[in-house]
Amino acid sequence: MTSFIQLPTQVKLVDVGPRDGLQNEKQPVPAAVKIELVHRLQAAGLKEIEVTSYVSPKWVPQMADNHEVMQGIQRQPGVRYSVLTPNLKGFEAALLDQPDEIVVFGAASEAFSQKNINCSIAESIERFAPVVAAAKAAGIYVRGAMSCTVGCPYEGEIAPERVAYLAGLMAEIGVQHVGVADTIGVGTPRKVQAAIEATLKHFALDDISGHFHDTYGQALANTLAALELGVWQFDTSVAGLGGCPYAKGATGNVATEDVVYLLHGMGIATGIDLDALVDAGAWISEQLGRPSGSRVGRALLAKRMN
Ligand code: HMG
Ligand code: MG
Repeated sequence: MTSFIQLPTQVKLVDVGPRDGLQNEKQPVPAAVKIELVHRLQAAGLKEIEVTSYVSPKWVPQMADNHEVMQGIQRQPGVRYSVLTPNLKGFEAALLDQPDEIVVFGAASEAFSQKNINCSIAESIERFAPVVAAAKAAGIYVRGAMSCTVGCPYEGEIAPERVAYLAGLMAEIGVQHVGVADTIGVGTPRKVQAAIEATLKHFALDDISGHFHDTYGQALANTLAALELGVWQFDTSVAGLGGCPYAKGATGNVATEDVVYLLHGMGIATGIDLDALVDAGAWISEQLGRPSGSRVGRALLAKRMN
């Protein structure tokens, strides 16, 4: 008899498009467009949206309008709004805009930590510790993003032990949830599972999410591999927007539309209206002047035309 692995029946998707998606755009994207994107995502049923980051505007000019964007969005009850805060300066600025969740972001690779946040892994943890404490004191939930958990643009393959090391440090300083990120999209299912298993040494399954970039077209397979381990939370990006400025060549996160199609096709609930999401993806792609990076989005739009 065929036996199937029991997959989660419900999945939560965090759309990171406004932040991870747009941070890498070369042309300035007006704050009004970012705000409208957030509105369209929440109207499509997204329950968490990563809106912006409070990083140096010299490093990432595209996110310099963080305050304007956070102040401009009309919040919908039941939706959580998260933002990236690499240090206390960023956290203090973010606090004025009252995010529901902040994200400290570290890397399993020493070289990527240096390139991305200008400090070693150990120094990053020292910087994060007071941010985590201050956020918790303010009643703000703390997520940790772990970059380069399978591969690094500077160091190559990353061993699971290094992921476990970083996850352990994040747990020690009180981070409540971690995202296992394949920053440059080089991972394949078994490697991603090894990174998740390493993370499970320090975090419960319910406190782990997957964050897969799709550079090598593996992100849907990696999502399924994570689901097989019971992971039920994923970061995705509408229209497959994005890439990291410090990971050259890396493309966007797996498209939210593609993941929703995969999940709904397997009978897994997301609470997301795929048609409305496809419209949101088509809209932002039009604003950016290029076709959507979501295959599902493009296919469903083409079907509507026929
Ligand atoms: P630094 O230069 O080491 O910091 O940057 P510093 O403390 O020495 O300060 C230098 C200058 O930056 C000072 O200004 C500070 O005021 C300012 P100056 O006196 O020269 O005018 N500064 C800040 N300004 C605004 N907001 C702040 C802030 N902190 C210092 N928070 C820093 C350290 C982390 C700030 C810098 O390296 C930086 O901004 N890096 C950008 C990192 C980034 O946004 N990367 C992309 C997001 S991560 C990602 O995409 C990966 C993820 O998706 C998961 C995955 O896929 O892997 C999450
Ligand atoms: Mg990312």
